[in-house]
Amino acid sequence: MLKKELLYEGKAKKIFKTENDLELLMEYKDSLTAFNALKKGEFAGKGALNCKISTLIFETLSKNQVKHHWLKTLEGNQMLVQKTTIIPLEVVVRNVIAGSLAKKLGRKEGETLVQPLVEFYYKDDALADPFVSDDQIVAMGWADLATLEHLKKEAGKINQVLKSMFEKIGLKLVDFKTEFGRNAKQEIILADEISPDCMRLWDLETNKKMDKDRFRQDLGEVEESYQEVYQRLQKGTQI
Ligand code: TMP
Ligand code: ASP
Repeated sequence: MLKKELLYEGKAKKIFKTENDLELLMEYKDSLTAFNALKKGEFAGKGALNCKISTLIFETLSKNQVKHHWLKTLEGNQMLVQKTTIIPLEVVVRNVIAGSLAKKLGRKEGETLVQPLVEFYYKDDALADPFVSDDQIVAMGWADLATLEHLKKEAGKINQVLKSMFEKIGLKLVDFKTEFGRNAKQEIILADEISPDCMRLWDLETNKKMDKDRFRQDLGEVEESYQEVYQRLQKGTQI
């Protein structure tokens, strides 16, 4: 039996130990949460769908030499990943003004930024993941400056790969959140899911939102949008 004891349960995933000390089993849940879990929902099959979407994205990242934790996808909603020690930062990359940045700066959503923006938030649910400056991160000992530069470079590269992959299937990558960790070799690698739960994707022609904002903002067709993202990705990555 590959799956052993439960190590951690988050809002959208469970992480289990496996027989191999260097590998973990990541199980995607059917639940959907927003606003630090103040709003809760779910749909049947959402975990499996996000697992399939994440898989196609990891395959594309591999082809583009981006280092990540994904090893292989098992059946259903489970994947095997490298064990890492997570750097306690949520790394957000933005191409277009939306969400909390639009609110903070009093702008309408949809304005393209002059250049992609990488931001760091401290990973702490009790504090609702506050924005932190580079100096605050260094002073708190969460990462040194060289690591932050590395994270910015990697996040920027991931953004370029994902942006062009989504453009090919008629989707605009507005922004996304990811996380990084250190593996046994002390390499810093992408160590998170990449799915419509943690990114904003708009249809290139109609600007229709195709991601978790449909749930956050009660726009309906949440499941249908996730399905469509998967179907477009499946077609796009076959070419
Ligand atoms: P924001 O505009 O709300 O700061 O979100 C930026 C991006 O990060 C967006 O694609 C949604 C994603 N995100 C998460 O994945 N988890 C979170 O807890 C938050 C706040 C945002
Ligand atoms: N991921 C966070 C939550 O589940 C916030 C969000 O995505 O809106 O509550």
